[in-house]
Order: sequence, then structure tokens, then C-alpha cells
Amino acid sequence: NQAPLIDPFARAITYLRVSVTDRCDFRCVYCMAENMTFLPKKELLTLEELDRVCSAFIGLGVRKLRITGGEPLVRRDIMTFFNAMGRHLETGALDELTLTTNGSQLERFADALFAAGVRRVNVSLDTLDEEKFARVTRWGRLAQVMRGIDAAQNAGMRVKINAVALKGFNEDELFDLVDWCAARDIDLTFIEVMPMGDLGNENRVGQYWSLTDVRDRLAERFTLMDLAERSGGPARYVRLTETGQKIGFITPLSHNFCESCNRVRLTCTGELYMCLGQENRADLRAPLRAHPETDAPLAEAVRAAIALKPKGHDFDYSRQRADGQVSRHMSHTGG
Ligand code: GTP
Ligand code: 5AD
Ligand code: SF4
Repeated sequence: NQAPLIDPFARAITYLRVSVTDRCDFRCVYCMAENMTFLPKKELLTLEELDRVCSAFIGLGVRKLRITGGEPLVRRDIMTFFNAMGRHLETGALDELTLTTNGSQLERFADALFAAGVRRVNVSLDTLDEEKFARVTRWGRLAQVMRGIDAAQNAGMRVKINAVALKGFNEDELFDLVDWCAARDIDLTFIEVMPMGDLGNENRVGQYWSLTDVRDRLAERFTLMDLAERSGGPARYVRLTETGQKIGFITPLSHNFCESCNRVRLTCTGELYMCLGQENRADLRAPLRAHPETDAPLAEAVRAAIALKPKGHDFDYSRQRADGQVSRHMSHTGG
């Protein structure tokens, strides 16, 4: 019975992405520098605090939660938090609880996630080649992720693969990825690499492979039917007539999708970012900690923050500096 969250551009905010840790057991070359320093653990919201903030958002009309990181499944006792959020599914206050993961711990967690109410999981996978996988993640083991994907499907979850399109890296695997996903009834989305965070010596301009090009390549072998569905998210979808498969494209650089944005992001330290590509943010940790007994000041801080949501982002490679255009990492904001 509280008024829903509506931003200054009349967009209803019904989707919260939550980074539960900035840590990850991989160091993907487009995401982190090899010698990445992580936040001291005391900076992180506790699991109880995460529960309070997310529950407050649900009280304000958020219907979908996506848990991200870093790698969410490396946070200690994370199932306590998933189970707490699962209760909102049971009461009907929440429509969907989901996560984005690198898959390394999925084999261990698949059944528990399903039991908590998770029905879909997004797994990041940029290559099907063991040696290239180890290179792009800096040491990840492909077989472990494959076992995680199997476990998720066996547990009853729908799997979506996110593949970052990387020039000179997975260009030659485009059709392999499509075929592999089709054979397993897995959804597939390609992502343009976004200029976020310092990568050390890596250069993102060199990594950028436009999805316009990916589409053209796909069209050489398949008939692409544009699908109207946008689901409030950033992906555009096509259906491949020959296989019946749905393929998504997330193109923040070549086409932005801000006009239909329905989401905000909570970092693992309790900052609320109104947009992935902008610095507008609000601290929710202070009202949370200052008022342990009531969530009213927290809800007020959320409303005040939403009133500052910008119209859109301005990622642009032509202005990229060596240290990345948006200085925080994807793993801090949660993608
Ligand atoms: P749904 O929208 O829930 O279907 O999830 P998703 O597919 O967007 O989530 P996922 O976590 O798999 O994100 C895939 C990629 O999309 C990640 O690289 C995100 O950073 C990116 N992404 C998600 N939302 C946004 C957004 O609002 N803006 C931009 N620029 N990128 C986004
Ligand atoms: N640009 C695009 N995608 C990125 N990811 C991480 N960093 C970047 C970046 N700079 C992707 C991961 C994962 C998703 C959550 O974000 O590969 O699929
Ligand atoms: Fe970890 Fe995902 Fe970043 Fe790779 S992209 S380092 S798996 S958070």
C-alpha cells in the first residue's frame, strides 16, 4: 500500500540487481586486473543488512531480484540470504529470484538454489575451448563450469549463457556457441564489452567486437526474425528460423536501451547506483545502520535516490581513458 517507485522519466522501478560480494574466483580479462584488490570484508553489508534492504525494496514494489557479484556463490553462507529472499516468493511479494554466476560453484549449489525458489540462472561463458577458457578467466576450469551447468539443468533451472563478444578471441566460435546451446536447450545472449574499471595492462578498445557484426555473421548462416519482446531488460532478441532458438544481444554501445530501463543496482557496500554507466549514487548503508529498529528512513533514502535516476548512460569508446571510463568495476556494481 505504499506508492510504487517511479523515476523522473516515468519509469517504474521493479527490478533490483544486488551485488553480494566484489570477490570472484576468476579474473576475466575484460572484468578485472589480475592483481585486483578486493574490499575489506567489514565494508560489505552483512547478510542481515542485505535482507533488510532487499525486503524494503520489495515493500516498495520491486518484483524481481537478481543476485550478482563478483561471484555471488563465493560469499560465505549465501544460501541464508537466498532462502530469506525465497520467502518473498512464497508470499507472492516477489515474482522472480535469480542470479548471474560464473558457474564455478554451481554444481554444489544447484539443488539448494532450486529449493530456495530460483528457476533461472545466467552463467557467463565466453568460449567452449578449455585452453581459451583458462586464458580469459586467467585460471578457470571449463569442466567445472560444465558440471555446474548440468547440475543446474538437472535441478530444474532454466540456464542462459552470457557470452561477451571479444575481438580476436571468440569470433571463430560464434557458430559453435550457437550450436552448443541449441543442443542443450540453453538460451544465449551476447554482450558488448563495456568500459568499466581499471584492467591493468589490458585494453578494452582492442577487445570490443560490435554486435552489429555478430548479427551480420549469424545472418550468413541463419534466418533472423526480430522479436518484439523487450521484457524491460537491455537485451534485444531474434529467433533463428532454422533452429527455433532465441538469441539475445546486449548492446550498450551500439544501441542503448535506457528509455525502458526498469532497474537500479545495489553494491555490496550498500550504495545504490541508479545506472550502470553513470556515477549517480546514494548511500543506503548509513540509514540502515543508523536505524536498526525501523526501515522507514531506509525507504525514504530509496525514494530520494530514485528521484535522481538519470535519463541514460553515456558509454563511449571515443572518450575512453586508459583507466576505463566508469572507474568502478562491474563486480562492485553487479553488472
Ligand atoms: P535480465 O534483464 O534479468 O534478463 O538479466 P540480464 O540478462 O540483463 O542479466 P545478466 O546479469 O545476465 O546481465 C547480462 C549483461 O547485461 C551484464 O553484462 C550486465 O552488465 C548487462 N546489463 C544488465 N542490465 C544492464 C543495464 O541496465 N544497462 C547496461 N548497460 N547493461 C546491463
Ligand atoms: N563488459 C561487458 N560485460 C562484462 N561482464 C563483466 N565485465 C564486463 C564488461 N566490462 C559480464 C560478465 C557476465 C556479466 C554479469 O557481466 O561476463 O556475463
Ligand atoms: Fe568473475 Fe564474472 Fe568478473 Fe569473470 S566476469 S572475473 S567470472 S565477476
